[in-house]
Amino acid sequence: MAYKVAVFDAKPYDQETFNRVNEEYGFELIYHKEHLDRHNVVLAGGSDAVCIFVNANVDKYVIDKLCEMGVKLIALRCAGFNNVDIAYAAGKIKVVRVPEYSPHAIAEHTLALMLCLNRKVHRAFLRTRDWNFSLNGFMGFDMNQKTVGVVGTGKIGRTVIGVLKGLGMNILAYDLYPDNAFAEKNDIKYVTLDEIYRNSDVITLHCPLTKETEYMISEESIAKMKDGVMIINTGRGKLIHTKHLIEGLISRKVGYAGLDVYEEEGAYFYEDCSDSVLTDDVLARLLSFNNVIVTSHQAFFTEEAMSNIAHTTMGNISDYFSGEELKNEVVFQGK
Ligand code: NAI
Repeated sequence: MAYKVAVFDAKPYDQETFNRVNEEYGFELIYHKEHLDRHNVVLAGGSDAVCIFVNANVDKYVIDKLCEMGVKLIALRCAGFNNVDIAYAAGKIKVVRVPEYSPHAIAEHTLALMLCLNRKVHRAFLRTRDWNFSLNGFMGFDMNQKTVGVVGTGKIGRTVIGVLKGLGMNILAYDLYPDNAFAEKNDIKYVTLDEIYRNSDVITLHCPLTKETEYMISEESIAKMKDGVMIINTGRGKLIHTKHLIEGLISRKVGYAGLDVYEEEGAYFYEDCSDSVLTDDVLARLLSFNNVIVTSHQAFFTEEAMSNIAHTTMGNISDYFSGEELKNEVVFQGK
């Protein structure tokens, strides 16, 4: 019997990769273009598992409904799991994820945002198309010998550190669980968050979104930063209080922002909204700055990462239904 998997948020590129990898597994894949939430959870009826992505909203209602319909497994095809109520799911339905698929993909996109903002490549591209070869306003800075603060030194943060060390940057790191052996081996320094804020020319976020990290970049933390700081977020949108970031950009305290994620991205990212009126004033304001680059949560989007995501996701689903140990289970750690 082929197990049925309802794959939500399925874009053509997801379907292409999943269909190819599924030749090894033989699941019955039912694709839905919506991201799973309480309004469309009924679409999962009759499925054995759901496969979801970063903008699904799996709250208590959705979990109850999935259980009621006999769905046995929530398979996240991403690393972060902040969009699933893990505490509520505990003991009701299993949750698995893809803890690692290519830290290089995200690290390289992080570097792309930094260099593009610094050297104004996004503006130069438009300028030369308009036959304007002036350099006014385009002066950048050498990344070499500048200080970058890396918040979160897990798989992605470490890869980012490797890449930025290649540019000759001084690295300051912060993590809830510092790895001193890693620091010593790589000649980097763990410091407090305050020291990151006060001393970094560039700050890049690679920690998960949790109660502690939500809105860590706020009016208060921005006030501590160097004038003209560059802030890069390829983590999760809610790490940054966007309205406070905008205030920082207006006052020029923040010199650059590179955002692959946005706190209200669920309504827009991955969709072509070019025929609609943009009603989100915060996003509209962000997009109006020439020193801000917004990308649509695409840091993961490389061939290698997509292929790894599909293999691990189908492996997770297969492990569950064949009674194997779930190595990528998301286990509720709290009380
Ligand atoms: P990881 O689990 O390997 O590393 C996360 C690190 O953050 C760990 O070292 C952990 O100790 C640290 N951490 C936890 N709480 C913290 C806190 N309060 N303050 C500082 N550090 C804290 O995860 P990985 O693979 O490096 O991914 C990091 C994040 O990047 C994910 O949680 C996800 O939100 C985001 N991500 C974004 C993608 C994109 O396409 N833009 C793709 C993949 C992940």
